[in-house]
Amino acid sequence: MNILQIISGGISAYKAVDITSNLVKKNHNVKIILTKNATKFITELTFQTISKNKVYTDTFEEINETEIQHIDLVKWADKIIIAPATANIIAKIANGIADDLSSSLMLAVKDFSKVYIAPAMNTAMYENPITQSNIFKLKQLGFNFIEPDSGLLACGDVGKGKLPSSEDILSAVLNNNLLAGKKVLVTAGSTKEYIDPVRYISNPSSGKMGIAIAEEFAKNGADVSLITSADYISEMKNITVIPIISAHDMFVAVKKEFEDADIIIKAAAVSDYKPIITYDKKVKKQVGNIEIELERTEDILYYLGQRKKENQFLIGFAAETNDIINYAKEKIKKKNLDYIIANDVSKKEIGFGSDNNEVYIIDKYNNINKIDKTSKRNIAKQIVNMFL
Ligand SMILES: Cc1cc2nc3c(=O)[nH]c(=O)nc-3n(C[C@H](O)[C@H](O)[C@H](O)COP(=O)(O)O)c2cc1C
Repeated sequence: MNILQIISGGISAYKAVDITSNLVKKNHNVKIILTKNATKFITELTFQTISKNKVYTDTFEEINETEIQHIDLVKWADKIIIAPATANIIAKIANGIADDLSSSLMLAVKDFSKVYIAPAMNTAMYENPITQSNIFKLKQLGFNFIEPDSGLLACGDVGKGKLPSSEDILSAVLNNNLLAGKKVLVTAGSTKEYIDPVRYISNPSSGKMGIAIAEEFAKNGADVSLITSADYISEMKNITVIPIISAHDMFVAVKKEFEDADIIIKAAAVSDYKPIITYDKKVKKQVGNIEIELERTEDILYYLGQRKKENQFLIGFAAETNDIINYAKEKIKKKNLDYIIANDVSKKEIGFGSDNNEVYIIDKYNNINKIDKTSKRNIAKQIVNMFL
């Protein structure tokens, strides 16, 4: 495979040699671009020796007069890896800035899915809402991201921002197994709150959205636990289906699975209320009205938001009939979510039971991406893309 490796000017640039070396050992043809600032951390000669190819150092020298470097390198590459990717290069790509070879070249990329970006930087730079908003934008466009590791950083801080090992980067790029080793918990479908053995309170959620999400995560190598009331049998080895009936069953199952999950997606439409009394024999028809007293079920999303660890991502859904975005933004704060997927369930042709939906993906920094009406499968792909 032809692989273009871009190395930008971060302290972990020296680790990029290992990535090149491993790619060459696996018989890939690797061409290297060092940004001007990367050359302050590592040398052209090292990469030239290891890759056995000419190294481009972000100058616009035309090596071959029939070539226009930034266009031809993109056409040549089957895959493009940016590792380490500085906050700067990510910002430039996200904003279409093309002021050197690497960034000009990135603007010439047509198929974003062939690009793998491995951000590495100080935690404050990584968590800065500006960097996060750039990453969000690129993920939504289809760029793949390899999440940084947490640990002791070169600056002495402890936090997220370390370049992952070259094995992890290679496995992500070469196997398209970007989520291997990740545990994902998905909930899907409605819950049933029984009044008596033959009657219950529920809603029309089919579970299609959550099931599509579970399958898309599994396709990318994640280990998925799917907690659902839907009648669903998985054909994928890495999906474990945990059947539930009521909101309380869901709560018990989620509590059990939540601890070691990396990503939690609550796509189920959980009943907010349940009958205080569930009769064990069928309630007989009587003359006149009857009253059923309801009590609140456990607020599972709130429970998770309160206990979420730093490395866990929590995603909720908001099914609303009006003022969707404002309710969703409120919910993101109240429940301490990382993302919320909001949809308008008042529209008959989308939402509950339908194969299609139209949603807004909103992150905790209030970045919003609207996904126009499309299949739930496509929406699931976009959601999973946020973690690639
Ligand atoms: C010692 C040192 C280490 C740096 N490490 C990083 C880093 O790990 N990640 C990052 O995003 N920027 C880092 N920077 C800042 C970048 O070098 C700077 O933003 C530069 O403009 C990046 O240029 P480039 O993206 O064109 O390579 C570092 C700067 C210095 C002086």
